[in-house]
Amino acid sequence: MNLLEQLIESTDYIGSQTTFKPDYGIILGTGLGNLAAEIEVAFEIPYSAIPHFPLSTLEFHQGKLLFGQLAGKAVVAMQGRFHYYEGYSLKQVTYPVRVLKALGIKGLFISNAAGSVNENIDTSDLMIIQDHIDLQPENPLRGLNHEELGPRFPDMSEPYSLEMIAKAQEIAKGLDIVVHTGVYASVPGPNLETKAEYVYLNRIGADAVGMSTVPEVIVAVHAGLPVFAISVITDANYPPEKVTKVTLEEVLAAARKAEPKMTLLIKELIASL
Ligand code: HPA
Repeated sequence: MNLLEQLIESTDYIGSQTTFKPDYGIILGTGLGNLAAEIEVAFEIPYSAIPHFPLSTLEFHQGKLLFGQLAGKAVVAMQGRFHYYEGYSLKQVTYPVRVLKALGIKGLFISNAAGSVNENIDTSDLMIIQDHIDLQPENPLRGLNHEELGPRFPDMSEPYSLEMIAKAQEIAKGLDIVVHTGVYASVPGPNLETKAEYVYLNRIGADAVGMSTVPEVIVAVHAGLPVFAISVITDANYPPEKVTKVTLEEVLAAARKAEPKMTLLIKELIASL
């Protein structure tokens, strides 16, 4: 069964469960977990029920799609996302983005946790992603291209909506939220980087590094979806003297600290659309 046929089965199933029509999609990565609590959820569908959705690993056994209202807008949110380091192919990682697009969303919002490789960007800061460097070992678009879904050679000169970046910057200013804007490098993980690798990432033009987002953005751009993405900085790694041993607990604590401002910013941004 090809991708188009799979998508029909996935969306037919979702359509058999709910008539909800989302206008915007949200990938609730690290830092946006709380946003789920702000959604007036009308309907939920566990990933495990949706035909062709990647089979969740134990970590994400409770992955689900949340359909509801956020800031007066009809949204569908992915609670739980897939990563390459968990063993999924990037086609699997990005399949849900195809499904959200097929459900009719007109824009995609993504958050993630990232390490800073810019000396001016600190732990618990926010960084709007304005461009990216793809260091993933495969490409989600490799193989047969379905013209119905997007072009063979999608342009990538402006993957993140400049309009939404400008709006978010303005909203942040109004709310007194400090927010950086920069370049996100996406690596496969799961290990964090060596000091030499953090220096390398800085030199090639990255401001932050993480293990997600870019595959989903590539597919969203291929599908013609405007994207807004934002990182919560959980560790500062440049210059290399700043690099310390980081534990998952520290990463999560830094993300939790930034979560309220991140949640507020995204909510206001969606309200402004
Ligand atoms: N590197 C890669 N991924 C990350 C980091 C990092 O330093 N921090 C949070 N996610």
